[in-house]
Amino acid sequence: MFFDILTLFPSMFEGVFSDSIIHRAIKSWLVSITMHNIRDYSDDERHKTVDDYPYGGDAGMLMKPEPLSRAIRASQERLREHNPTVIYLSPRGELIRHEIVEELRQEKALILLCGRYKGIDERVSTAYVDRELSLGDFVLSGGEIAAMALIDAVTRLIPGALGNRDSAETDSFFNGLLSHPQYTRPEEFEGMRVPDVLLSGHHANIAAWQRQMAEDITRKRRPDLWERFITDKK
Ligand SMILES: C[S@@+](CC[C@H](N)C(=O)[O-])C[C@H]1O[C@@H](n2cnc3c(N)ncnc32)[C@H](O)[C@@H]1O
Repeated sequence: MFFDILTLFPSMFEGVFSDSIIHRAIKSWLVSITMHNIRDYSDDERHKTVDDYPYGGDAGMLMKPEPLSRAIRASQERLREHNPTVIYLSPRGELIRHEIVEELRQEKALILLCGRYKGIDERVSTAYVDRELSLGDFVLSGGEIAAMALIDAVTRLIPGALGNRDSAETDSFFNGLLSHPQYTRPEEFEGMRVPDVLLSGHHANIAAWQRQMAEDITRKRRPDLWERFITDKK
């Protein structure tokens, strides 16, 4: 799977992709990540300007349309045979949920546009963006952290990216529920014991307990998720 990242801060991604699961996925050719500095597409040779004042007199600066459109077109051309989807990370986008990550995992190539300043000229979104996605109902300083989160979440679901040990199937959201509680050694920690059932070796009882806990936790912590789970089951 190909990820092209359009950003003003390529170096922000260095540490994130040089460790752990994404690093392994890159090394085993499951994913390929290419960074593009939007500044390289500025037509201002000297200052590499990519922002300008917004019409209407709002405070702050906006990303100019021309460098963005050039950067997107270059990336689309590069990935043409993989039919890339252009995603703009934006607080106005659809909230990223497990189902969206599952959908994106089926794609061959994603172009991730990271905004800065007060965001991007609306016409870029209208003409070039297939999907706007949000990391949550809060405002980040830029789309980079949202892009990192999305790449991490999608990569985890690519077959072969996780070893059996880390299988995604036991993670929250995979079956529509939050994860059940987990324990490791020692059996007792600061006066708290591991639940007896987990020490029993009785697999059916353990599975039933885990399921019950997952349902209880989901109902209590995420009534919205629980509603959806119940509706989907019907
Ligand atoms: C300071 S924000 C601009 C916010 C914009 N003026 C608004 O109120 O919708 C700068 C950039 O950060 C990114 N960003 C901010 N919050 C985000 C979120 N919740 N999810 C994804 N990207 C976000 C976007 O790419 C955005 O263009």
